[in-house]
Amino acid sequence: MKKILTLVILATIFLVGCGGNKEKTYVVGTNAEFPPFEYREGDKIIGFDIELIELLTKEAGIKYEVKDMSFDGLLPALQTKKIDLVVSGMTATEERKKSVNFTKSYYSTSQVIIVRENQNNIKSFDDLVGKKVGAMIGTTGDLIVSDIKDVNVKKYNASYAAILDLKADKIDAVVLDSEPAKNYVKQNKGIKVIEGVSVTEEYAIALRKEDKELLEKLNKAFETIKANGEYKKLYDKYFSK
Ligand code: ARG
Repeated sequence: MKKILTLVILATIFLVGCGGNKEKTYVVGTNAEFPPFEYREGDKIIGFDIELIELLTKEAGIKYEVKDMSFDGLLPALQTKKIDLVVSGMTATEERKKSVNFTKSYYSTSQVIIVRENQNNIKSFDDLVGKKVGAMIGTTGDLIVSDIKDVNVKKYNASYAAILDLKADKIDAVVLDSEPAKNYVKQNKGIKVIEGVSVTEEYAIALRKEDKELLEKLNKAFETIKANGEYKKLYDKYFSK
């Protein structure tokens, strides 16, 4: 009898202990409409950012799960704690830095213009004046286009929808980050990329200002995967020609 009682007590201590130590699962928000950084293959979300967060969380010893949502919903979801991190090819802009923290930059890029192959009059943002231009809602590309005088901006949730409208003559151009743009041009006939039109942008992971410890952990993990060659391996997998 005494033995059984001891067992019951031990089991209870064990179970309570487990509950108390239950590891937090960090929810990583993304918008899987942005190949090769995050996109869907069947019902799986894959891409550079997804593999990057896998490496970083493993190194930092934290658990995570990915949540797909609209791009313009990511920062509000972060502020309201529906998600804990944003890994979504997000540019660390000065404006966004006012409300969230960013890790060290993990990728440098810029905005480009996509036009139909026979379009030779569009060489810079200035040439978009008076034109119908597509951009992804809430992105830096959207900001640039919406700033152009007399432009007719059409905002999309999914970049591929903008590409389809461009191909169908419904809009004159699309402003998008360089890598997804090149990706679409490779896979779609009749469109081309105009490069060298924007300043450099730095992608980084966004998190709440108060999550300082998490920021430290991720930055440290990033240093480690840069030093041990894992970051380079991932980079080459997606970006070496
Ligand atoms: N770099 C741009 C921005 O931060 C676009 C990012 C879009 N990312 C995405 N997963 N849809 O505004």
